[in-house]
Amino acid sequence: MARTRRPLIAGNWKMNGLQADGIALAKAVAEGVRQAAWADREVLVCPPSTLVLAVAAAVRGSGLLVGGQNCHAKASGAHTGDVSAEMLRDAGASHVIVGHSERRADCGETDAIVRAKAEAAWRAGLTPIVCIGETLDEREAGRTLAVLEGQLTGSVPGGATADRLVVAYEPVWAIGTGKTPTTPEVAVAHAHIRKVLGGIMEGATSVRLLYGGSMKGSNAAELLAAGDVDGGLVGGASLKADEFLAIAKAA
Ligand code: 13P
Repeated sequence: MARTRRPLIAGNWKMNGLQADGIALAKAVAEGVRQAAWADREVLVCPPSTLVLAVAAAVRGSGLLVGGQNCHAKASGAHTGDVSAEMLRDAGASHVIVGHSERRADCGETDAIVRAKAEAAWRAGLTPIVCIGETLDEREAGRTLAVLEGQLTGSVPGGATADRLVVAYEPVWAIGTGKTPTTPEVAVAHAHIRKVLGGIMEGATSVRLLYGGSMKGSNAAELLAAGDVDGGLVGGASLKADEFLAIAKAA
């Protein structure tokens, strides 16, 4: 089967960015993307929901994609404080992160909730980036691959296709810590993820699998060279345009 996995470098700004600095950051990234005119990779920024509309407007025409960091499973209704996938789409998003470990931990999101959010993304015409990853305790207990398998089978809805799904492997202990798994460890995890996907969907060989956790300009090339790694989900380093663009360049 032809390999059709165009690398995706996604920035997750998390709860960072007021209008002035967020829009300036997005414009700087967009300018880098516009100048590079990459046809062989995609670059995405996921600002906080307050900025999705303004960032999408600021980067229009540059080739930089915009996504949300979370969505509710329902399209609308009495869900105070939530944002639906339809609203993100309406604001200019093409993607939405679902099931980030910070939301699984902070907001009690279960695999079933994440799955419903991924389905909501499809309903709205967005591509979900489904996040999975083991904690340090799980890793030290030798349960990494089993945890990933459980999260994948629980979080990826039936009917997934490669063009409507991105999976991000983010070891919880590597997020914001400066620690990363070794390249072979990343490759083993990603190969397992692809194998598990093969059992639950058609076309798993074409699904893009992102690595996330302390990725920066200086380690991106090595992490992105690991087998079955098709891009990155970048937190802290996505808040600096030069650093984020260096990662995109390494892809
Ligand atoms: P850091 O790149 O800051 O480790 O965060 C990774 C992450 O959680 C991206 O979603």
